[in-house]
Amino acid sequence: MGDEAETYGLTWPGKGRAAAEASAPATGRLEPDPARSVGSDDSPHLFIEGDNLEVLKLLGGDYAGSVDLIYIDPPYNTGKRLAYDDDFADHTAGNSSSRDPGARRHAPWLSMMYPRLLAAAELLADGGVLFVSIDDTELPHLRLLLNEVLGEEAFLGVLKRRAARKTAHLSATMSDLCDYVVCYARGRLGGRLSTASSTEATRPVLNRGNAVSERVLPRGTEARCGDGVHPAGRRCVRSLEFEILDDLVVQGGRLVGEVRVRGPFRVNQDLLARTVFITRRGGLRRSLLPEELGAPKAMSDLLDDPEFYNERGSECLADLLGAPVFEHPKPVGLIKHLVRSVPRPSGDLVVLDFFAGTGTTAQAVMEVNAEDGTHHRFIMVQRPEPLRQVAKLPDGTRLQTIADIGRERIRRVIEGMGARAPGFRAYTVRDDGA
Ligand SMILES: C[S@@+](CC[C@H](N)C(=O)[O-])C[C@H]1O[C@@H](n2cnc3c(N)ncnc32)[C@H](O)[C@@H]1O
Repeated sequence: MGDEAETYGLTWPGKGRAAAEASAPATGRLEPDPARSVGSDDSPHLFIEGDNLEVLKLLGGDYAGSVDLIYIDPPYNTGKRLAYDDDFADHTAGNSSSRDPGARRHAPWLSMMYPRLLAAAELLADGGVLFVSIDDTELPHLRLLLNEVLGEEAFLGVLKRRAARKTAHLSATMSDLCDYVVCYARGRLGGRLSTASSTEATRPVLNRGNAVSERVLPRGTEARCGDGVHPAGRRCVRSLEFEILDDLVVQGGRLVGEVRVRGPFRVNQDLLARTVFITRRGGLRRSLLPEELGAPKAMSDLLDDPEFYNERGSECLADLLGAPVFEHPKPVGLIKHLVRSVPRPSGDLVVLDFFAGTGTTAQAVMEVNAEDGTHHRFIMVQRPEPLRQVAKLPDGTRLQTIADIGRERIRRVIEGMGARAPGFRAYTVRDDGA
């Protein structure tokens, strides 16, 4: 057989049917769900409950070519039993048992992803960026699939993320520490993916030896020390002494009211109010102003920052909800880093996550808006995948599905930010014919 008879490309049993699924018209409609919305009818953000293929098709009407950033964290197909279904392998006997084990493992995952990526590509704006989290199981297939859907020239790179502080001792072969974020653009990217030279850098606000003065931490100040009431009193953190004059009441990671502090401050009230945050250990530090950040540099494809470890994602969600209800949500810091990396020739971004899970991307967008003064909008899509066990939060809230977790998380972040955050509109997919 001559070489010409052989073909190059990714193929699998079921590919034709998967492509047909993408082009079949939507059968449902998006119904507003005011009882689950927060804020006014014209809130900029959306949370849509439903199967994402149907939702992507429905969004095609209003959003074709107008989404600037898509971040997705699809099931990795690890075969594990997680809060969501992460096993796509075909375990049925019969005809399929004679198939290649590779096809049985990967073909169903590819058939799930292919129509969704085709539909998502229609929504991406020219210069829009797609980020996909994945691990070693499906990385090779995902790369080939995206080369086909968006074109090989659309490939920007693969970020390698250190995902955990410690290695897993029980691994049978080698200990996984990394996963990946695969990056593609549609059309011409309006600049490079960049990162402020010291995005995660922070500075002290106190200096031992300075004269003691009183300052006010405004309502809505970020507080990483955990939700609850932290009583007023003297503190010594990293050998810096100060006195909190009012109880610190923290909800959704933010101060509920103003708090007065006495200490040897090295920054004035204005700078403090704009930049201060409370650290995990209860200390005071500040973030840098944009003009202090220096020229942006090209984003590195190696991500090793404790803020990007899975542990941070789990702690953050558990702090917000008061209970651990989902294994390994992505860390908010990772998604903020991605949002900030995208060139913005035309201003604010429309950010879509159609495997939204617990709504990490929504929180990241809201925090970037609050910190950078942007007005990015999010669209979250999550099916009502039932939790294996109904989650009961300490305040009595009951969550039955992963979509419930997502909406509750977003609601609490908005509540914590007070007037600084607009609300979101909830929608549900209705299929009247079904
Ligand atoms: C890996 S999790 C995403 C976690 C998320 N990044 C976070 O930080 O919470 C994948 C999510 O996709 C959802 N999902 C899977 N298939 C879906 C579908 N067809 N439509 C909508 N959501 C889906 C699952 O229920 C699960 O919540």
